[in-house]
Amino acid sequence: MVILIKNGTVVRSTGRRRADVLIRDGIIARIAPGIDAAADRVIDAEGCCIFAGFIDTHTHFDLDLGVTVTADNFETGTKAAIVGGTTAVLDFATQDRGMTMHDALDLWHKKAEKSSCNYGFHMAVSEWNDARKAEVDDMFRAGVSSFKMYMVYDAMKVTDGQIYDAQKFIAERGGVIGVHCENCDVLQARIAEEKAKGHLDPTAHPITRPQAVEAEGVARLMRIAELSGAPAWVVHLSTADGLNEVRAARKRGVEVYAETCPQYITLDVSQYAEPDGAKYVMSPPLREARDRAALLNGMQRGEIDFIGTDHCSFTMAQKAMGRDDFTKIPNGGAGVQNRAELVYTFAVCPGHITLEQMALLLSERAAKLFGMYPKKGVLRTGSDADVVIFDPNAKRTISWKTNLHACDNSPYEGIEVRGSVRDVILNGEQVVENGRLIAPYRGQYVFRNPCERYRK
Ligand code: URP
Ligand code: ZN
Ligand code: ZN
Repeated sequence: MVILIKNGTVVRSTGRRRADVLIRDGIIARIAPGIDAAADRVIDAEGCCIFAGFIDTHTHFDLDLGVTVTADNFETGTKAAIVGGTTAVLDFATQDRGMTMHDALDLWHKKAEKSSCNYGFHMAVSEWNDARKAEVDDMFRAGVSSFKMYMVYDAMKVTDGQIYDAQKFIAERGGVIGVHCENCDVLQARIAEEKAKGHLDPTAHPITRPQAVEAEGVARLMRIAELSGAPAWVVHLSTADGLNEVRAARKRGVEVYAETCPQYITLDVSQYAEPDGAKYVMSPPLREARDRAALLNGMQRGEIDFIGTDHCSFTMAQKAMGRDDFTKIPNGGAGVQNRAELVYTFAVCPGHITLEQMALLLSERAAKLFGMYPKKGVLRTGSDADVVIFDPNAKRTISWKTNLHACDNSPYEGIEVRGSVRDVILNGEQVVENGRLIAPYRGQYVFRNPCERYRK
């Protein structure tokens, strides 16, 4: 199969230029102006930007919380992902207590069988002991070079000492651990305070997890990494104060990778007071204008490494489990389809970042850290043909009704966005045309190499 994309502007982290892109048998064969070659399909990309396929570093599909399971599984979640220009998701395979990492990995491979975009797995671990350590080398052999640990959630929480030990152990093998940074004891104490006041609706959620709860967790992780000498990856960073801790640690020589999410540069804490405030209950919670400004500034200055969605969706009926108690609202929201258009609208259009930085944040750096570069994350001869044709002049309004994810709500409902993903090539085949998914279930497993620690 040969595809020729003509007349577009190829955007890479290093610059942009008008050029055609020739794809042959799943690989980028040539990028140059005025390519004249026989092709099975010619796509006119006049007026559009051509990006390397976007990589979502943070999704939770088919995640079983015990009390309920996420609304999106791989089938629905990856359909939403691919029409939004995400050609690979890195989902969190989750080793629940009493389970092995091997079990979790096998389970996630099964869950992902009907995927419409490519997929890899981070391994989220709820236990850290000799038995789990004995499995780590096999994870690398199976293409899993990144892990996650939580400072919170009763079912997943590990200790600081375990994070320290795991960081050393995994770094020696070329991996990295993402950590959910919040101070668990303090937020539990604040939950007790709000409950004692009878404050049980979703507006209590951000009060229990204010900026300092995250910043303390980030500061602690930074010190743990300073002691372990390992790289640290801060997942879903949401605050100015947390970013300041990352900056301070980098000044001390700590190797830190920072991920933020679209919700933390677009939405506001005041939204918990809306009638459907439960749909915004996620951890960390939505923040304030100063946090959004700091994160956008961090993106501009190259301090934020990549943007994942933390897509972890629940229907309003599931969210209603916490109607009388906000702590029972399942945490998380839908976002996997809307990342590129939100970043373009809220970060590129107002001039916070350039298109080149968008390429870096949505694709290239994730591909590097997570061991996929240069097959993925960059448009160059020899790379995998995962390609996004993005129309910067399109305008639309986000709604769960038109999104392909399975849940009946979106935190971005009603937001008008500029720029839209028009066409997507996945593994050398056009799978999205004019915003419509024309070839579902073409996703393949992405075997990942050890991390490219570009901040070392
Ligand atoms: O509220 C969230 N973010 N749910 C998903 C799990 C996590 O903490 O990443
Ligand atoms: Zn988390
Ligand atoms: Zn998450």
